[in-house]
Amino acid sequence: MNFQDRENLKQLCQSQTTGFALPREFYTSAELFDEEIKSYWNQSWIWVGHISQVPEPGDFFLFDYGPESVIIARDREGQIGAFLNICRHRGSRVCVKAAGNARVFSCPYHAWTYELNGRLRAAREMGKDFDRDAHGLLQAHVRVFQGMIFVCTAEDPPDIDAGLETLAPLTNPYGLDRMKIAHTASYPVPANWKLAVENYMECYHCGPAHLEYSKSHSLKDPASMTDEVMSEMRSSAERAGLPNGAVGINCATGAPVDVDFYFARYPLYPGYLSGSQSGAALAPLLGDIKSHVGAATDLQIGIVNNFLIYTDHVVGYRFIPRSVQETDIQVVWFVHEDAEDGRDFDVASLTWLWHVTSLDDERIIRVNQEGVNSHHFKPGPLSEMEWGIRAFYAGYLHQMQKNLT
Ligand code: FES
Ligand SMILES: [Fe+2]
Repeated sequence: MNFQDRENLKQLCQSQTTGFALPREFYTSAELFDEEIKSYWNQSWIWVGHISQVPEPGDFFLFDYGPESVIIARDREGQIGAFLNICRHRGSRVCVKAAGNARVFSCPYHAWTYELNGRLRAAREMGKDFDRDAHGLLQAHVRVFQGMIFVCTAEDPPDIDAGLETLAPLTNPYGLDRMKIAHTASYPVPANWKLAVENYMECYHCGPAHLEYSKSHSLKDPASMTDEVMSEMRSSAERAGLPNGAVGINCATGAPVDVDFYFARYPLYPGYLSGSQSGAALAPLLGDIKSHVGAATDLQIGIVNNFLIYTDHVVGYRFIPRSVQETDIQVVWFVHEDAEDGRDFDVASLTWLWHVTSLDDERIIRVNQEGVNSHHFKPGPLSEMEWGIRAFYAGYLHQMQKNLT
């Protein structure tokens, strides 16, 4: 079916039955994938990195998804900017290095040269009427929230500031801006990006699929989160100087929204202070936290940007669409900026849980896609524990249809 035809796309979006999985075409159509990059990804705030990746003027890194590529750079004045990595001459990628330090960005094709703030500095033989100022790199919008860098390539991005303001007091004590990256890993999965997001949005699969996670994290069994267990966790958080609030803007209700925000803490089982194999802490306490708390905190900033926060480390998760059935699950482990590898933490122990869990996820997402590819696939009903998927669908379908009217 041709999904560039607005009517067909509209019909597909309306064909979903609320409370059920999405129909097959959502996971198999290359045309729909292209439409999603335009109407969903390019209209969303995407978590691209952390300020520790660009400490000095000239530091830069690329963030690529689908056919898009964004340069994130710190300029001479210390400002972090983001630009589309497309030459304003004939469209070549301007920057082909994944990260580094640059004085300028010079296009490899005909050498048009751009400043760190995206302005065009030089272009040869363009005639005297050529307006250099009108040919700078296209700018993307940037927000830095407690050290985490978000980018949106839309002309008119959805509001993110109100949600960030609500989250700020809850995340502040963790000192997210005073962290560094301890390790990054990528898990390529031959599946549509939505199957990867859906997998992250529910813990219905945790019991059956994640043996290691289920030994320590209570989320796989909501019945285990009794009032007594929850109140013990809250007292422990209070002693550690952590606020006990929660935020669930739109996610919990499934209301159609442009940007979703979520913050909620849940207990680890007795004997576990962190997401570790032994139960012991894995790294020095983050930020201003006074003591370890046997809890994990889900933080979501926009539906595709997820973080799991322990008192001694943070795990960032993102699902990068490459093509209709190619997705990179990227996992980034953060520790306190002063923590030293080998002295204060050990990378293998730090990354153990979410490495084995990501390998499980890669496997179940892959076979999920294989089943969905069948012409016999019929979307089934969602469980109560899959409320996060309902919220994701509501926001996704709303966003896709917004561009059809
Ligand atoms: S395409 Fe970049 S200078 Fe020609
Ligand atoms: Fe999982």
